[in-house]
Amino acid sequence: MTETMSHSDLEQRLIDRIDEHGPITFEAFMDAALYDDRHGYYPSRRRQIGSTPVGTDGDYFTSPSSHPAFGALLALQLDEMWRNLGSPDEFTVVEMGAGDGVLGSDVYEYIERELPAIREVISYIATDLVPPAESTVIGQLSLLPLGVKGCVISNELLDAMPVNRFIVQAGEVREIYVDHQGGKFVEVINDVSDPEISARVEPFLGSLPEGYRGEANLRLRNWADSVSATLERGYVITIDYGYERPELYTPARLGGSLRCYYQHTLSQNALARIGRQDITAHVDFTTVDHMLLVNGFERIGKRSYVAQRQFLTNIGIGGFLSDIGARTMNGQLSRSESQEDLAGIGSLIDPGGLGRFKVAAHSRGVESDGGRSQAITGIVGGSPLTAEHSAPTLDGASVEHARLLRASNPFSQDQSGTMPTWDELFGDKP
Ligand SMILES: C[S@@+](CC[C@H](N)C(=O)[O-])C[C@H]1O[C@@H](n2cnc3c(N)ncnc32)[C@H](O)[C@@H]1O
Repeated sequence: MTETMSHSDLEQRLIDRIDEHGPITFEAFMDAALYDDRHGYYPSRRRQIGSTPVGTDGDYFTSPSSHPAFGALLALQLDEMWRNLGSPDEFTVVEMGAGDGVLGSDVYEYIERELPAIREVISYIATDLVPPAESTVIGQLSLLPLGVKGCVISNELLDAMPVNRFIVQAGEVREIYVDHQGGKFVEVINDVSDPEISARVEPFLGSLPEGYRGEANLRLRNWADSVSATLERGYVITIDYGYERPELYTPARLGGSLRCYYQHTLSQNALARIGRQDITAHVDFTTVDHMLLVNGFERIGKRSYVAQRQFLTNIGIGGFLSDIGARTMNGQLSRSESQEDLAGIGSLIDPGGLGRFKVAAHSRGVESDGGRSQAITGIVGGSPLTAEHSAPTLDGASVEHARLLRASNPFSQDQSGTMPTWDELFGDKP
């Protein structure tokens, strides 16, 4: 079957569904476009041999794909968490939405090399709704372990969840649905399908102008419930781009935060290239925090997140940069290797790029262990965890990472002729 035929098959099934039941929520549309078993974006990409949505040949970059230092710094953070828990003889890390499994591989390799004590007790379970073929990533989410002591971690999982879309009309919150009219998928507006959407937006109605559009991720409740079922004692680390609600639902973001990525081009038209482009929305960290708190977790830190730049700086990314510099000076690394490593590591804290991602940290049952502190260095700072540890390098990693110097413009011009900036992608500007 050709690609065109297979994608029109997904479109046809959506059309049949709309013909039979009427317009569908955007959430149902996005679910099909991203996760339809046969022709959704993630299953299709993962079935193509050697193809991945992430990296130079894919549609976007993520922190794990940029440099193994991301996994190494998280390994050091996990090691501290394990010690905070009293160094138990089992410590399980469950990664949700692990994608190609690069993060787990980097964490594990760094632990193998640098952290012998935790190496004896750690199990790392990478899971994904759509696991790549022939990988160690587990796809049967119903088999997620329960009662874990350790950490549940995710990077860019929540932004990939289907969202409902709303619009402000005549001072009310209304919902945007997807219909099929005149041979085209179109938006239609009706009452909200779930009162939770209005409940989240209504406090901001006074400041939102007529026609304001936004998104609400109703799946965060289920996500927090499954985190809670999985983790009996330990930490939850949630990394993604997004804001607290008052920053998310602001007049400055008139069209909402929905973004589509296709081969490093950006658009806001989610009704095009169905099944062939990625669709994401910024994460509402107020809801992330709230859903975990009602499940009995405690938040670490004053706000519901810190910037990734701050998080990695607290752990000691500066030590890794100095280490690469020193190994270049003494000839252990060539200049070209060193440049690539410095670019990759630097990209993780770029204030105009990945550095403005957010990290939320929560814990449960940690402080009860002999009065040990539940705090973690990534969030609250303290002595850097990289002291006495060397930086990982791109050439030393067993999995391929993006070579950012060879792909200096991570996003190119889209068909409408606009060049997206990191500000447009992740920033404060709409
Ligand atoms: C943007 S990708 C990020 C992949 C990887 N974490 C990274 O940083 O490169 C989002 C991933 O989340 C997965 N995903 C979406 N919803 C999920 C769910 N409910 N449970 C587990 N994985 C999910 C998708 O299949 C996809 O692999």
